[in-house]
Amino acid sequence: MLPNTLFMGQQLFFLPVCKSTNSEAQQLLLKNEATEGCVVLTDEQTHGRGQRGNTWEAAPGKNITLSVILSPVFLAVRHQFYLNMAVSLAVLDLLREQGLGHARVKWPNDLYFEDRKLGGILIENTVTSQSIQHSIVGIGLNVNQLHFGISTATSLAAEVGTQLDVKRLVNRLLELLEKRYLELRSGRTDKLKYEYLQALYRYQEEHGYQIGAEQVQGRIMGVDEDGRLALQIDGELHYFGFKEVAYII
Ligand code: BTN
Repeated sequence: MLPNTLFMGQQLFFLPVCKSTNSEAQQLLLKNEATEGCVVLTDEQTHGRGQRGNTWEAAPGKNITLSVILSPVFLAVRHQFYLNMAVSLAVLDLLREQGLGHARVKWPNDLYFEDRKLGGILIENTVTSQSIQHSIVGIGLNVNQLHFGISTATSLAAEVGTQLDVKRLVNRLLELLEKRYLELRSGRTDKLKYEYLQALYRYQEEHGYQIGAEQVQGRIMGVDEDGRLALQIDGELHYFGFKEVAYII
């Protein structure tokens, strides 16, 4: 069964096992075999990739593991973080529909419930000097997995107390993703940014952060045009790129 969408997931490749859906999506792009909204879905990745060069581990058949190919040519390169916002909000919309009203986005685009990670997003863009040609949006969401190698991970099932239908959730996620992507395409960036900030983990709260060798207390005040995190430290705003700051949780 396909999702109820115009284009998101209307072309869908299911691979029982693959190295990484993002890498498979890259191959489809190279071979010119993908139309916008094309999805690569798998039950099991052998070389799942995360942000910062990390690996992404997920128990086979229990979770959402997919990549979507988009062509946000309407988005200027300097505005690429709006795509992160739109995708994060779509996953959050799904979590909220499933009863996790308190789920949050941990900047830049991890999905958190309380202090534990439910899922992550890896977006890989192909850019020209002006605009984004293609984006491969990889989404990993823990659904029915109950045991993790690390205590900082959780899943939808662990939080709501019941097992869920992964296929049905994939379809719903693609519908929500299309809705958010169309908001982005129609220029509703202020709305997306507002909702993203409202959903941001630790927004405007005082917490500890690691900056290089230093531990500081800071307050997240927003995200700038380039997607850098605005942290207020000792009354002054400082902006940090993805690799320059870590949350102390
Ligand atoms: C992170 O939190 O570090 C991002 C994790 C992204 C994982 C997904 S799973 C589907 C897609 N394929 C990959 O190899 N990675 C992304």
